[in-house]
Amino acid sequence: MTDSKPTLVSGVKPTGELHIGNYFGAMRQFVELTKADEYKPFIFVADYHALNTMQDAEEMRQRTREVVMAYLAVGLDPKDVVFFKQSDVPAHTELCWIFDAITTMPYLMRAHAFKDAEVRNKEINVGTFNYPMLMAADILLYDAAIVPVGADQKQHVEYTRDTAEKFNRIFKEEIFKLPEPYILPDTAVVPGTDGRKMSKSYGNVIPLFASHNELAKCVMGIVTDSSGDRPENVYAIHKLVRSESELTTIYGSNAGNYKALKEMLIEDLDRYFTPIRAKYEELKNDSGVVEEILEKGKREARAVSEEKMEVVRRAIGVA
Ligand code: ADP
Ligand code: TRP
Repeated sequence: MTDSKPTLVSGVKPTGELHIGNYFGAMRQFVELTKADEYKPFIFVADYHALNTMQDAEEMRQRTREVVMAYLAVGLDPKDVVFFKQSDVPAHTELCWIFDAITTMPYLMRAHAFKDAEVRNKEINVGTFNYPMLMAADILLYDAAIVPVGADQKQHVEYTRDTAEKFNRIFKEEIFKLPEPYILPDTAVVPGTDGRKMSKSYGNVIPLFASHNELAKCVMGIVTDSSGDRPENVYAIHKLVRSESELTTIYGSNAGNYKALKEMLIEDLDRYFTPIRAKYEELKNDSGVVEEILEKGKREARAVSEEKMEVVRRAIGVA
């Protein structure tokens, strides 16, 4: 890694069990992007962001570990990436406080995520209200050039740009660089076992780390309609793991035989995910590896962010 490459920053919240929709829709492209030798990537587990909704210590520990292992299992290489936990780097919350001081309440009240949360629950917590400022700190600390995120996070990156501009204007120095969002290409929505978008909130998922038996149970439960020869919900998932030309032959010679097609899908999914699952199991059994990676990430991220904070503290006059 050389320092002349533009910096890439992104965070992943440690919430919920990952499914193959997350994998094909986001994780895979995300890992590819960090592998491209074009950027210097900083990737972190956004545990302090998750604290707004996940307030159980055991669950926090467990989910954090899981998300780290999941990203390593799908190919994120800690050699290419500074991979760390947000809570391990105090500069994130420190800079968030500084941004709070220059940001107005009406401005934060206009954020979509805040408005949506408020509709659901008037007793919204301050952390949820302030979410965009912590995210701005996450990004601006590392002078990010690009921020790969899902489309729903675009406004948060705009808030980050506004905050950088405002800070630079108030303190009359170009301290922060304006980042660009990089919206992950939305590969066709992965359908769930009931044909709707695969989502943990619909209970129609195929877990990314399912055992063979769990996988078989999920696939056998795929809803099929009997109007045609080809079970569309089965096919739509199948084409993620096998070429369409091969599938044309397979679905042609098994027309109407849904059971055989589902059995083939089980085998194909199993084959596709076996190496990823094996890597995950290996990480699960190797108790020290996650800690070791996070420890290294912590040192690297602290060094970079601390240097930035010295500049920031001088600019605002506390140092
Ligand atoms: P869920 O809907 O299960 O709660 P999340 O909202 O946590 O999933 O999604 C995390 C990432 O995975 C997002 O970037 C989203 O674009 C992607 N993703 C989730 N479900 C799908 C799907 N069914 N098809 C394609 N991408 C998906
Ligand atoms: N808000 C992002 C999400 O919900 C997670 C996140 C936190 C993030 N900090 C970030 C993403 C900084 C990109 C950059 O997915």
